[in-house]
Amino acid sequence: MVEDIKMFGKSLETVEEGPEQEAQRKAFEDRIAHGEKIEPGDWMPAEYRRQLIRMISQHAHSEVVGMLPEGAWIGRAPSLRRKMILLAKVQDEAGHGQYLYHAAETLGVSREELIEALLAGKAKYSSVFNYPALNWTDVGVIGYLVDFAAILNQTMLARCSYGPYARAMVRISAEENFNKKQGQDLVIRMAHGTLGEKAMVQDAINRWWWPTLMMFGPPDTASPNSAALIRWGIKTKTNDELRQEFVDKIIPELEALGLTVPDPGLSYGAESGHWMTGEINWDEFWRVVQGQGPCNQERMAARRAAHEEGRWVREALEAYAHHQGLG
Ligand code: ACO
Repeated sequence: MVEDIKMFGKSLETVEEGPEQEAQRKAFEDRIAHGEKIEPGDWMPAEYRRQLIRMISQHAHSEVVGMLPEGAWIGRAPSLRRKMILLAKVQDEAGHGQYLYHAAETLGVSREELIEALLAGKAKYSSVFNYPALNWTDVGVIGYLVDFAAILNQTMLARCSYGPYARAMVRISAEENFNKKQGQDLVIRMAHGTLGEKAMVQDAINRWWWPTLMMFGPPDTASPNSAALIRWGIKTKTNDELRQEFVDKIIPELEALGLTVPDPGLSYGAESGHWMTGEINWDEFWRVVQGQGPCNQERMAARRAAHEEGRWVREALEAYAHHQGLG
């Protein structure tokens, strides 16, 4: 992806970053320091633009690929009510992908280029969606854990310095809250259900716990992008800070439901007031990011098939727009 984003940014990089741009850069950084939003037409350093394209496009891809694990359960939902809720949730994720591709487009990259990079296997998307949803309980646990993790990240990004991304995040976070609630509701019901149901939900938590923690990204010591992102107010918290926030919030909730996490190293620091987890398996994380997770191939095959099957819709829309004089 880095290579592709460099490619997307190539023509942009030539327009700026000479020594004469120092004053512009200073004015730009002052605006960020004063909490002003940077808007699409504003001057911005090429690296700021590149970082945003990288991050927003990965985020958009994550929403779209994120439809797949749960989408597979729409046809097998146990009641009409649950089916409607899940349909709405998966539809929300498609909408989030839309907003995010639009936000990326404001930076001078086309949606086609971004999608091409995804389908060619060059673009990244969240590692967490490369794990399988094995049974109905996983739908609840994904909503509860994964969407909660996403909300913490997105609430932070709603304050980011780039206007279109921040505004997309406000709406996405609001919708994501409903998504989390459907998952939490399912988990609570299962946790208070029969012994078998409780065992099922515990099993799903055991499988999704570590992938959810990995979602926040590598540890700060191994996060090459964090420094620039934080300097420019794109991220306002580090990967480890957000991960800690998640652990501190979710552990007491799970405990209240009589549920545990699969971490013998988990401990509470009475002095720090924080829950400390055991070591995350970063080898596994990097394997999944590099395409060797349990479902990477399946996810990409599904995306490619969906893209092909949707070709006639895109062509029909283009023909219609042309006919109307819009294209
Ligand atoms: N899955 C896949 N790749 C990841 C992940 C992950 N969970 N975490 C980090 N990476 C990648 C980064 O993209 C980066 O690769 P790149 O430089 O080739 O682009 C590399 O690992 C190193 O990571 P960092 O330097 O820490 O990257 P960054 O500072 O961008 O932080 C993070 C990663 C936290 C995911 C950030 O990009 C972010 O907040 N993104 C927006 C939110 C998002 O994408 N959420 C997706 C899931 S939410 C949902 O879909 C509902």
